[in-house]
Amino acid sequence: MKTFFTVLGASIAFFLTIAMFGTSGWVRPPLQTTQNGFRGTGMDQIHTRAGVAAAKDANLAPAPADPAEPGEELAGATYENVQVLKNVSVNEFNRLMTSMTEWVSPEQGCTYCHNTENMADDSLYQKKVARRMLQMTQAINTNWKEKHVGGTGVTCFTCHRGQPVPANIWFTNPGPNHTSGFVPRNNGQNMASPSVGLSSLPYDTLTEYLADKNIDNNAIRVNATTALPTTKGKPIQDAEKTYGLMIHMSEGLGVNCTFCHNTRAISNWSQSTPQRTTAWHGIRMVRDLNGNYLEPLTSTFPAARLGVLGDAPKVNCTTCHNGQSKPLNGAQVIEPYPALAKSTEVAGAAETAPAAEPAPTAPAPTPVPAPQ
Ligand code: HEC
Ligand code: HEC
Ligand code: HEC
Ligand code: HEC
Repeated sequence: MKTFFTVLGASIAFFLTIAMFGTSGWVRPPLQTTQNGFRGTGMDQIHTRAGVAAAKDANLAPAPADPAEPGEELAGATYENVQVLKNVSVNEFNRLMTSMTEWVSPEQGCTYCHNTENMADDSLYQKKVARRMLQMTQAINTNWKEKHVGGTGVTCFTCHRGQPVPANIWFTNPGPNHTSGFVPRNNGQNMASPSVGLSSLPYDTLTEYLADKNIDNNAIRVNATTALPTTKGKPIQDAEKTYGLMIHMSEGLGVNCTFCHNTRAISNWSQSTPQRTTAWHGIRMVRDLNGNYLEPLTSTFPAARLGVLGDAPKVNCTTCHNGQSKPLNGAQVIEPYPALAKSTEVAGAAETAPAAEPAPTAPAPTPVPAPQ
């Protein structure tokens, strides 16, 4: 009997060890750390060399198309139904159509957006969506240049990556459909939603924090600013929702909380990294994209593309970042595509055209917003 239990114990230990190394959730050493915050604060990013290499390979930017031959003719004057790319030369226009096909619909080709009998025809919803996407991309590269995307910029590929529907989109999550039960109001918790890293945090924090086009609504403030309470303060539920969003942001960027926060003083801006300021603007940018570009396309999309509540597909941090702190390994993607770097709607005013979309409503927010 004793031998039996020894053998049994040894084999269980053996298989558990194998399982520990072989299954997900266990990261095989050696681990590397990169210092991101102030020296000595332990604000490190922890990763494996293999993990970094895999993320790099999964996020390669395609080589830009050869530059277009210079030409005087403008697309707006040459073609019948060009509304956005008006003051782009015909050569540049055709180059961009070819690249857009590679970025968005490489398998389907031009016919994904066009009725090839008549290229000017707008009957396919894909073309109407793509026209708005052109405006959205130009707005990201102008209105959000200083505050978020920098000289790196974005093209259609940043989100689409060779697919008509980007891999990382989201819809409002209605949650479970029963309203009664043991815990009828559970603050959306214990539903294990991927958007909050399968934690027991509220399952739909994205709708609350990333879908409002009034981009300065709903400041994400839960920490007290005084040692003792002076007002009633925010309910604990708000803190849980905030953590849900923070987990989404960390996973979307492939970083730890310490990429942005000094965790001994989470809310303190002067102890946070510059990346936290970029992230602060990123939250507002995503609200702008969802509220002003995607949501208004709800009636253009076919029903099959909408969420269970009939809402439009939306963008979050992962749509562009895909697990990296700088999308596409930080590759500078916008310079070879000047037509996507600024508004091209005013014929003949290529260099000085103002942004097509009004700048985000609020005056430029200061990097360190005053606590509320
Ligand atoms: C992802 C969608 C998409 C794909 C793929 C696409 N196009 Fe387009 N195309 C558009 C949009 C949107 C417009 C209108 C642009 C505007 O209003 O500024 C347009 C306009 C055009 C026009 C002008 C038609 C006219 O007379 O008004 C031509 C020509 C054209 N595309 C050619 C092509 C070719 C050739 C391909 C394949 C290599 C292609 N397009 C692939 C979205 C697409
Ligand atoms: C910030 C991210 C982002 C960028 C940049 C972007 N798109 Fe999109 N695009 C989306 C999202 C999100 C959707 C909605 C997905 C869906 O259709 O279900 C979408 C949908 C589309 C669709 C409709 C696909 C379908 O079958 O429903 C087309 C066509 C398209 N985009 C073209 C473009 C073009 C062309 C560009 C560049 C000029 C571009 N997009 C840039 C995020 C982006
Ligand atoms: C990419 C940067 C970034 C990462 C990573 C990040 N945060 Fe944040 N965090 C922010 C920003 C920006 C705000 C302020 C948002 C606002 O004011 O709209 C914030 C706010 C907070 C707040 C509220 C602070 C207050 O003033 O009340 C808490 C709590 C918080 N984060 C916790 C976390 C935790 C926990 C993690 C890791 C799971 C995390 N954060 C990861 C950028 C980040
Ligand atoms: C439209 C695409 C897009 C979306 C959506 C987006 N970002 Fe970014 N983000 C970028 C680009 C491009 C850069 C690189 C900017 C640069 O090189 O200066 C960047 C850079 C950053 C950085 C700085 C990284 C560093 O290493 O310095 C942070 C932090 C960041 N984003 C956070 C966020 C958060 C948080 C969200 C969601 C709330 C978000 N981003 C959504 C495109 C995007």
